Amino acid sequence: MEAIRPRSLGFRFDRARYRTGHRALGALSMVAMRAIHAAVKPGLRPPSAPVLRELLRRFEALLERDLAQAAAGEYPRALLFDVPLRRYASAVPGGLLELPAFVRRAHGPPRRVAPPAESLAYPRYYLQPFHWQGDGWFSDRWARLYDLAVELLFAGTADVMRRMAIPPVRAALEGRPGARVLDLCCGTGRYLVQLHAAAPGAHLYGVDLSDACLREARRALGDVPAASLVAENAEALPFADGVFAAATTLFALHEMPRDARRRVVREAWRVLEPGGVLVVLDADQSPPGEGISDILQLFPQLYHEPFFKGYQRDDLANLLGECGFAVVQDEPVYVSRLAVGRKLSG
Ligand SMILES: C[S@@+](CC[C@H](N)C(=O)[O-])C[C@H]1O[C@@H](n2cnc3c(N)ncnc32)[C@H](O)[C@@H]1O
Repeated sequence: MEAIRPRSLGFRFDRARYRTGHRALGALSMVAMRAIHAAVKPGLRPPSAPVLRELLRRFEALLERDLAQAAAGEYPRALLFDVPLRRYASAVPGGLLELPAFVRRAHGPPRRVAPPAESLAYPRYYLQPFHWQGDGWFSDRWARLYDLAVELLFAGTADVMRRMAIPPVRAALEGRPGARVLDLCCGTGRYLVQLHAAAPGAHLYGVDLSDACLREARRALGDVPAASLVAENAEALPFADGVFAAATTLFALHEMPRDARRRVVREAWRVLEPGGVLVVLDADQSPPGEGISDILQLFPQLYHEPFFKGYQRDDLANLLGECGFAVVQDEPVYVSRLAVGRKLSG
């Protein structure tokens, strides 16, 4: 990626403000997460100094890439500062009240969660207290906490990492106003909100099984008329073949078993036009002893993540290839992996 040159005092100030803000957010999140981790798993061994150095290197590289992509016009510079601090601050009291129950759940065996009566048919694997969320993905309370919780977990970089999935989508949309993009397992809609700012002409679709998350996504996308959100299983999409220019799925494939992961990726292939792309952003898959694997292996020890270990061994590039995609991009992005597959034929 081309380095951006300082153009003006204002521009330099923006960059400094961005870096300082993120370093402060990162440090604050780390302190909060350390306290939570100590309560969930006292005595957990912290990662070694070289692994922490690698994490810090990746953190700084992510910030530089975000700045460079904004400077290259991939998305408006305003997105760099679009941290809804007031909304996060208002979620803090609810989060603190939830903390004792969260820690209690983390010390007990995982119990299946029950879906609301007269709702969709949910796959069995979905009925879990993921991350020790009370009522799993069915909880309005947790859906309201979700964006803040993920930002804390990722040291304030959840939205930054999501932005890394914007350039491959924009490339697929070039010269095609009104083309459709589908976000699979869209959750509370943070990616779609950012994608709309970067590609305002695109028709955005989001699919998720969680009504609670979709309610949050509807609120976040309230002023985007060209956005449709549907409560459906991403393993069996309610769309015709070949109608999307791009599909995305962020931080979701690690939450389902191997077979379901394949059904989701095959469905993405089916609904994409020939030449369309699937952009996957999910947890990094550093092999044991390499990269940041020591940090990744802490994740399922601290949170209820029943499919994470299986996901770690299920190489994303191979998965895309197995489901008919040609892999055109594949790289680590801070604690994530970004993989892009192109559908070559119809
Ligand atoms: C960790 S969240 C990620 C949400 C969002 N993509 C983001 O960037 O934060 C995982 C999401 O996947 C959804 N999900 C899991 N399995 C699903 C399935 N089979 N079909 C649709 N949504 C699913 C959950 O409801 C949840 O909203």
